Amino acid sequence: MNKRQATFVKGLGAIVMVLGLTQCGGREKPNFIYMPDMVYSPAFKAQEKGGMRTPPEHSIPRGFTPYPYRGLPETAGEKLRNPYQNERAVLMRGKVLYQRFCYPCHGVRGEGMGPVTPKYPMPPSLHSTKVRNWTDGRIFHTITMGQNLMPSYASQILPEQRWKIVKYVRVLQRANNPTAADIKALEKW
Ligand code: HEC
Repeated sequence: MNKRQATFVKGLGAIVMVLGLTQCGGREKPNFIYMPDMVYSPAFKAQEKGGMRTPPEHSIPRGFTPYPYRGLPETAGEKLRNPYQNERAVLMRGKVLYQRFCYPCHGVRGEGMGPVTPKYPMPPSLHSTKVRNWTDGRIFHTITMGQNLMPSYASQILPEQRWKIVKYVRVLQRANNPTAADIKALEKW
């Protein structure tokens, strides 16, 4: 390396150092802005109005199934069908779910004396002629939409779980009002 080359290398080093130092300035402001549009982008603050795109009218979230019987309990009772049969696995799962979600108010047998009562108003018995005559769809509707003091469980219990709970409510009802054939079968058992 001759003298001129050495001077050049030193000079280059000095320039690199100066550039490096200028980068270390305050963090608030960028130094050399070579693409201004990226530095000053029209970014929205979190939760700021206009920050989220307004979804087009009638759009629904992915995987969301709209419930068409809002405010129409009778129609729900007529149109909705329980997709499950009386199978052991369905009833056992229904029992677990009933005891998790319904038991606190409706009691272990559906008579209405759950542990939160009577501090929380006691719900009517699920063994009434009225509820026994309801279709599965009508009970499903009550779980989905709630009823007066009973809140909606749509956000906590999946539709298929609601149907299994309804099946278990039927088990409770039948156990409370067994037919002669049920009693005969039980005696044999
Ligand atoms: C927070 C307490 C609470 C929970 C939990 C609850 N319910 Fe209820 N439920 C009530 C009350 C209170 C009523 C009476 C509402 C009214 O006055 O119409 C009721 C009413 C009902 C009725 C209608 C009874 C009738 O005679 O009109 C059905 C069916 C029912 N509930 C089923 C269920 C099922 C199934 C679950 C579990 C998924 C459940 N409920 C969870 C409090 C509850």
